[in-house]
Amino acid sequence: MRLTYYGHSCFLLEVNGKRLLFDPFIRPNSLAANINLKTLSADYMLISHGHEDHLADSIELAVQTGALVISNWEICQWLTKQGVQNTLPMNIGGKKIFDFGNLKCVTAVHSSSFSDGSYAGNPMGFVIKSDKTVYYAGDTALTMDMQLVAQGSPVDVCILPIGDHFTMGFEDAAKAAHLIQCRDIVGVHYNTFPYIEIDTAMVKEHFKKNGLHLLLPSVGETIDL
Ligand code: NI
Ligand code: MN
Repeated sequence: MRLTYYGHSCFLLEVNGKRLLFDPFIRPNSLAANINLKTLSADYMLISHGHEDHLADSIELAVQTGALVISNWEICQWLTKQGVQNTLPMNIGGKKIFDFGNLKCVTAVHSSSFSDGSYAGNPMGFVIKSDKTVYYAGDTALTMDMQLVAQGSPVDVCILPIGDHFTMGFEDAAKAAHLIQCRDIVGVHYNTFPYIEIDTAMVKEHFKKNGLHLLLPSVGETIDL
Protein backbone atom coordinates (compact mmCIF):
# COMPACT_ATOMS: atom_id res chain seq x y z
CA MET A 1 0.00 0.00 0.00
CA ARG A 2 1.34 3.45 -0.90
CA LEU A 3 0.30 6.94 0.16
CA THR A 4 0.94 10.14 -1.76
CA TYR A 5 0.33 13.33 0.19
CA TYR A 6 -1.25 16.32 -1.58
CA GLY A 7 -1.34 18.69 1.40
CA HIS A 8 -3.87 19.41 4.17
CA SER A 9 -6.06 16.25 4.39
CA CYS A 10 -5.77 15.29 0.75
CA PHE A 11 -3.91 12.11 -0.10
CA LEU A 12 -3.98 9.19 -2.50
CA LEU A 13 -3.92 5.60 -1.28
CA GLU A 14 -2.91 2.91 -3.73
CA VAL A 15 -4.60 -0.27 -2.59
CA ASN A 16 -4.56 -3.53 -4.57
CA GLY A 17 -3.84 -1.63 -7.78
CA LYS A 18 -6.71 0.83 -7.20
CA ARG A 19 -6.28 4.53 -6.55
CA LEU A 20 -8.30 6.07 -3.72
CA LEU A 21 -8.20 9.86 -3.46
CA PHE A 22 -9.28 11.42 -0.16
CA ASP A 23 -10.66 14.90 0.60
CA PRO A 24 -9.47 16.82 -2.48
CA PHE A 25 -8.33 20.32 -1.54
CA ILE A 26 -5.41 21.24 -3.77
CA ARG A 27 -6.16 24.32 -5.92
CA PRO A 28 -6.98 26.64 -2.97
CA ASN A 29 -4.00 25.35 -0.93
CA SER A 30 -0.91 27.50 -1.50
CA LEU A 31 1.23 24.77 0.12
CA ALA A 32 0.15 22.42 -2.69
CA ALA A 33 1.03 24.81 -5.54
CA ASN A 34 3.46 22.23 -6.97
CA ILE A 35 0.65 19.69 -7.53
CA ASN A 36 -0.87 19.74 -11.00
CA LEU A 37 -4.51 18.75 -10.67
CA LYS A 38 -4.68 17.78 -14.33
CA THR A 39 -2.20 14.94 -13.81
CA LEU A 40 -4.21 13.24 -11.06
CA SER A 41 -6.13 10.04 -11.64
CA ALA A 42 -8.32 8.08 -9.27
CA ASP A 43 -10.64 5.09 -9.28
CA TYR A 44 -12.41 6.20 -6.10
CA MET A 45 -12.80 9.50 -4.30
CA LEU A 46 -13.70 9.49 -0.61
CA ILE A 47 -15.02 12.65 1.04
CA SER A 48 -15.18 12.73 4.85
CA HIS A 49 -17.45 15.79 5.25
CA GLY A 50 -18.76 18.90 3.53
CA HIS A 51 -16.28 21.58 4.58
CA GLU A 52 -14.56 23.39 1.73
CA ASP A 53 -11.09 22.30 2.86
CA HIS A 54 -12.15 18.69 2.11
CA LEU A 55 -14.08 18.95 -1.14
CA ALA A 56 -12.97 22.10 -2.97
CA ASP A 57 -11.68 20.18 -6.01
CA SER A 58 -14.13 17.28 -5.79
CA ILE A 59 -16.39 18.25 -8.70
CA GLU A 60 -13.54 19.00 -11.09
CA LEU A 61 -11.64 15.84 -10.14
CA ALA A 62 -14.73 13.63 -10.20
CA VAL A 63 -15.45 14.75 -13.76
CA GLN A 64 -11.79 14.53 -14.81
CA THR A 65 -11.09 11.10 -13.33
CA GLY A 66 -14.51 9.45 -13.55
CA ALA A 67 -13.84 8.11 -10.06
CA LEU A 68 -16.69 6.68 -8.01
CA VAL A 69 -17.27 9.25 -5.28
CA ILE A 70 -18.04 7.76 -1.88
CA SER A 71 -19.40 10.02 0.83
CA ASN A 72 -22.47 10.47 2.99
CA TRP A 73 -25.96 10.72 1.51
CA GLU A 74 -26.16 14.51 1.63
CA ILE A 75 -22.79 15.13 -0.03
CA CYS A 76 -23.56 12.61 -2.78
CA GLN A 77 -26.92 14.32 -3.43
CA TRP A 78 -25.19 17.70 -3.58
CA LEU A 79 -22.52 16.41 -5.99
CA THR A 80 -25.20 14.88 -8.21
CA LYS A 81 -26.90 18.28 -8.45
CA GLN A 82 -23.53 19.76 -9.54
CA GLY A 83 -23.33 17.25 -12.39
CA VAL A 84 -21.25 14.47 -10.80
CA GLN A 85 -22.81 11.23 -12.02
CA ASN A 86 -20.79 8.49 -10.39
CA THR A 87 -21.52 8.57 -6.64
CA LEU A 88 -22.14 6.00 -3.94
CA PRO A 89 -23.78 7.26 -0.75
CA MET A 90 -22.89 5.50 2.49
CA ASN A 91 -23.19 6.47 6.13
CA ILE A 92 -21.63 5.89 9.53
CA GLY A 93 -21.58 2.24 10.56
CA GLY A 94 -21.95 0.99 7.00
CA LYS A 95 -19.41 -1.20 5.26
CA LYS A 96 -19.03 -2.57 1.76
CA ILE A 97 -16.68 -4.82 -0.17
CA PHE A 98 -14.99 -3.23 -3.19
CA ASP A 99 -12.39 -4.52 -5.65
CA PHE A 100 -9.63 -2.92 -3.53
CA GLY A 101 -10.84 -4.39 -0.23
CA ASN A 102 -13.28 -3.56 2.51
CA LEU A 103 -14.44 -0.03 3.38
CA LYS A 104 -16.25 0.95 6.58
CA CYS A 105 -17.56 4.39 7.50
CA VAL A 106 -17.00 5.36 11.13
CA THR A 107 -17.81 8.18 13.52
CA ALA A 108 -16.05 11.52 13.48
CA VAL A 109 -16.82 14.17 16.09
CA HIS A 110 -16.94 17.38 14.06
CA SER A 111 -19.50 19.34 11.98
CA SER A 112 -20.36 19.23 8.30
CA SER A 113 -21.87 21.93 6.09
CA PHE A 114 -21.33 23.25 2.57
CA SER A 115 -19.72 26.65 2.01
CA ASP A 116 -23.18 28.27 1.68
CA GLY A 117 -24.05 26.98 5.16
CA SER A 118 -26.42 24.26 4.00
CA TYR A 119 -26.51 20.87 5.71
CA ALA A 120 -23.91 18.34 4.56
CA GLY A 121 -24.85 15.36 6.72
CA ASN A 122 -22.64 13.96 9.44
CA PRO A 123 -18.85 13.91 9.21
CA MET A 124 -17.18 10.53 9.08
CA GLY A 125 -13.92 8.64 9.00
CA PHE A 126 -13.02 5.62 6.88
CA VAL A 127 -11.44 2.24 7.61
CA ILE A 128 -9.89 0.49 4.60
CA LYS A 129 -9.00 -3.18 4.93
CA SER A 130 -6.97 -5.05 2.34
CA ASP A 131 -3.44 -6.42 2.79
CA LYS A 132 -3.18 -3.79 5.53
CA THR A 133 -5.76 -1.91 7.57
CA VAL A 134 -5.70 1.87 7.37
CA TYR A 135 -7.91 4.24 9.35
CA TYR A 136 -8.42 7.80 8.14
CA ALA A 137 -10.11 9.73 10.95
CA GLY A 138 -11.29 12.73 8.89
CA ASP A 139 -11.76 15.89 10.93
CA THR A 140 -12.48 14.81 14.48
CA ALA A 141 -11.91 15.33 18.15
CA LEU A 142 -10.47 12.56 20.26
CA THR A 143 -13.36 10.21 21.00
CA MET A 144 -13.77 6.91 22.82
CA ASP A 145 -15.39 5.58 19.63
CA MET A 146 -11.84 5.19 18.32
CA GLN A 147 -11.53 2.12 20.53
CA LEU A 148 -14.05 0.43 18.22
CA VAL A 149 -11.96 0.96 15.07
CA ALA A 150 -9.49 -1.86 15.78
CA GLN A 151 -12.19 -4.35 16.73
CA GLY A 152 -11.72 -7.50 14.70
CA SER A 153 -8.46 -6.62 13.04
CA PRO A 154 -5.57 -4.45 14.16
CA VAL A 155 -4.98 -1.10 12.47
CA ASP A 156 -1.57 -0.90 10.75
CA VAL A 157 -1.59 2.81 9.99
CA CYS A 158 -3.83 5.64 11.15
CA ILE A 159 -4.10 8.98 9.38
CA LEU A 160 -4.98 11.58 11.99
CA PRO A 161 -5.46 15.35 12.12
CA ILE A 162 -2.83 16.99 14.33
CA GLY A 163 -3.33 20.73 13.73
CA ASP A 164 -5.58 21.47 16.72
CA HIS A 165 -8.13 24.35 16.80
CA PHE A 166 -10.76 22.73 14.49
CA THR A 167 -9.81 19.11 15.20
CA MET A 168 -7.79 17.28 17.82
CA GLY A 169 -4.28 18.53 18.34
CA PHE A 170 -1.11 16.48 18.53
CA GLU A 171 -1.46 15.48 22.21
CA ASP A 172 -4.94 14.08 21.60
CA ALA A 173 -3.81 12.48 18.34
CA ALA A 174 -1.15 10.58 20.32
CA LYS A 175 -3.86 9.50 22.80
CA ALA A 176 -6.02 8.47 19.84
CA ALA A 177 -3.21 6.28 18.52
CA HIS A 178 -3.18 4.47 21.88
CA LEU A 179 -6.98 3.98 21.77
CA ILE A 180 -6.64 2.63 18.22
CA GLN A 181 -3.64 0.54 19.32
CA CYS A 182 -1.68 1.72 16.32
CA ARG A 183 1.94 2.90 16.46
CA ASP A 184 2.31 4.27 12.93
CA ILE A 185 0.58 7.57 12.33
CA VAL A 186 0.46 9.86 9.31
CA GLY A 187 -0.29 13.41 10.47
CA VAL A 188 -2.57 15.62 8.35
CA HIS A 189 -4.64 18.83 8.70
CA TYR A 190 -1.83 21.09 9.94
CA ASN A 191 0.08 24.19 8.77
CA THR A 192 -2.36 24.96 5.93
CA PHE A 193 -3.73 28.04 7.69
CA PRO A 194 -2.43 30.21 10.56
CA TYR A 195 -5.07 28.65 12.87
CA ILE A 196 -3.48 25.21 12.58
CA GLU A 197 0.22 25.95 12.46
CA ILE A 198 2.36 23.60 14.55
CA ASP A 199 5.99 23.06 15.47
CA THR A 200 6.57 19.82 13.55
CA ALA A 201 9.89 18.96 15.25
CA MET A 202 8.33 19.29 18.71
CA VAL A 203 5.26 17.31 17.64
CA LYS A 204 7.38 14.49 16.22
CA GLU A 205 9.32 14.37 19.47
CA HIS A 206 6.06 14.13 21.46
CA PHE A 207 5.00 11.06 19.48
CA LYS A 208 8.44 9.50 19.87
CA LYS A 209 8.34 10.02 23.64
CA ASN A 210 5.00 8.21 23.67
CA GLY A 211 6.38 5.21 21.80
CA LEU A 212 4.72 6.22 18.53
CA HIS A 213 6.02 6.88 15.05
CA LEU A 214 4.68 10.01 13.34
CA LEU A 215 5.15 10.34 9.58
CA LEU A 216 4.81 13.77 8.03
CA PRO A 217 5.30 13.32 4.28
CA SER A 218 5.94 16.50 2.36
CA VAL A 219 3.46 17.68 -0.26
CA GLY A 220 3.87 15.52 -3.36
CA GLU A 221 5.84 12.83 -1.52
CA THR A 222 4.93 9.14 -1.83
CA ILE A 223 5.56 6.76 1.06
CA ASP A 224 5.13 3.04 1.50
CA LEU A 225 2.81 2.05 4.32
NI1 NI B 1 -13.90 20.28 8.77
MN1 MN C 1 -11.00 20.52 7.87
